[in-house]
Amino acid sequence: MLDLSSQTTAYNALFEVAAAGSACAGKGTRVIPGNVDQSVLAEKIDPKLFPNLDCGGLMPLGGATLSQSDIDEVESWIAAGAKNDTD
Ligand code: HEM
Repeated sequence: MLDLSSQTTAYNALFEVAAAGSACAGKGTRVIPGNVDQSVLAEKIDPKLFPNLDCGGLMPLGGATLSQSDIDEVESWIAAGAKNDTD
């Protein structure tokens, strides 16, 4: 229920879109600009900030957690308003 296969697809599926997956539907919004603490995307990738997942599994499912620098980059992007830019 979440297509991250291109930048455009991913952005449109994330920005202010309600969670719709098998576990997280009805449990919040994927990316809330300026609000890391309430964004399901951040919760799914950052077990330090979110020691208790509200729904489903840590992402990438079955794989290693993202590097701290990748997690920081995603969270900084959300905190800065989740702009649709190409950098
Ligand atoms: C860094 C890569 C990934 C990110 C950022 C990511 C992100 C997410 C997010 C935000 C959700 C919640 C979507 C919603 O409920 O609306 C989700 C759910 C899900 N993802 Fe991923 N995902 C990643 C990789 C993967 C991989 C590699 C798999 C499969 C092997 C996977 C399988 C699933 C499944 C089955 C769900 C629904 C169940 C659940 O919420 O735990 N994901 N993912």
